[in-house]
Amino acid sequence: MPVVDEPVRLGDDIIQDPHALYRVLRAERPVRPAIARHGLRMWLVSGYAEAKALLADPRLRKDADRAHALFESHLAAAGVTAGPDPSGDLLRRHLLNTDPPDHTRLRKLVNKAFTARTVARLRPRIERITDELLDAMAAKARVDLLDAFAYPLPITVICELLGIPDQERGEFREWSATLLNSGSDESLHQAAGAMAGYLTGLIEAKRAVPTQDLLSDLVHVSAEGDQLSHEELVAMAFLLLVAGHETTVNLIANSVLSLLRHPDQLALLRSDPPLLPGAIEEFLRFDGPINIATLRFTAEPVRIGDAEIPAGEFVMISLIGANRDGERFTDPDRLDVTRPAGGHLAFGHGIHYCVGAPLARLEAEVALGRLLGRFPGFGLDGDPGELRWRESTLVHGLDTLPVVLG
Ligand code: HEM
Repeated sequence: MPVVDEPVRLGDDIIQDPHALYRVLRAERPVRPAIARHGLRMWLVSGYAEAKALLADPRLRKDADRAHALFESHLAAAGVTAGPDPSGDLLRRHLLNTDPPDHTRLRKLVNKAFTARTVARLRPRIERITDELLDAMAAKARVDLLDAFAYPLPITVICELLGIPDQERGEFREWSATLLNSGSDESLHQAAGAMAGYLTGLIEAKRAVPTQDLLSDLVHVSAEGDQLSHEELVAMAFLLLVAGHETTVNLIANSVLSLLRHPDQLALLRSDPPLLPGAIEEFLRFDGPINIATLRFTAEPVRIGDAEIPAGEFVMISLIGANRDGERFTDPDRLDVTRPAGGHLAFGHGIHYCVGAPLARLEAEVALGRLLGRFPGFGLDGDPGELRWRESTLVHGLDTLPVVLG
């Protein structure tokens, strides 16, 4: 097959119909130059083997300062003037923007808080929050499942873990959505400023009066020595808060949508509830919450398959593309809740593998198990063709998910 070298111009379909797009790209060339939506040239990876190899390749880097400088030079080369750095200095120095050895040092500080054993202790609390949300839903005939259930559960859990007071949670959804969705530089800058300001104040409050939570523990570590600078502390709080809910929300909602679109699989799962943990792995594979992993750049030339990526190029690795690769998964476009679990890349791979995976799995198991038990006849409210996906190439999640409760 001839090598297709001209860049593919990415449009709305990467958000609204990504599986169809990746099916074509994988067949043509699983590592391919692309013009991203903001007009910059990058490389798009849609094949499983290539995605897995590149996620763990140390020649691909994330260092925030180098990435920022590179971004500006790409913008200048494309004739676009760079706006203010949307992430803002204060939110930049986190795990997903660092390479070893900084990454190794930072990761050690939070690993223990999220092991399967530690998070298992949260189960009773997660069950209580879930039941309260379902009680509130039961009073209504129809709801937006995102608003009423999929969003409040993970945001409550991560805020309680971090120690963010109840009455202060209102504005996160908007700030966080602004930061993740494609928007203007100005609105990004404002949201980043608001978020950084809020978290800095919260950290000062914990410093003055420590409480029993992860953020107070991190404040303590930061005060003790050279393990965690103030900037790194604010950025860590930001990453945990955003990564801790933006993704799980969509795991819950995308899983419900997958089930509603496959009534045979829904019936199977209802008839055999112990299938649930395996089914969650299948939901992660079939329509996971992250479309394209966070950006990486090549620190040196990288040859992968028949592609040669020069040094200093940005690489977009599509996790949902990799997870539907027929070379790795039999009949990849079929939802099969009995499929042998394992191998999907929904939580990433390599040193940046999701630190919150055990928490996400636990929340999804409680949420979906109890939702299915409580509403035996729920279904989509309206035309499934009208569902819209959020304007983000990072997060693969719905704008709304209207359901009728049965
Ligand atoms: C990293 C997915 C839930 C915290 C990642 C990465 C993925 C991912 C794909 C790697 C990104 C990359 O390499 O570019 C998910 C999914 C979730 C989820 C699909 C839910 C279904 C959570 C939760 C937390 C969390 C609940 C809560 C603490 C993090 C952090 C990282 C990360 C801190 C950075 C790890 C590192 O760079 O070492 N996640 N995540 N995630 N995730 Fe999650």
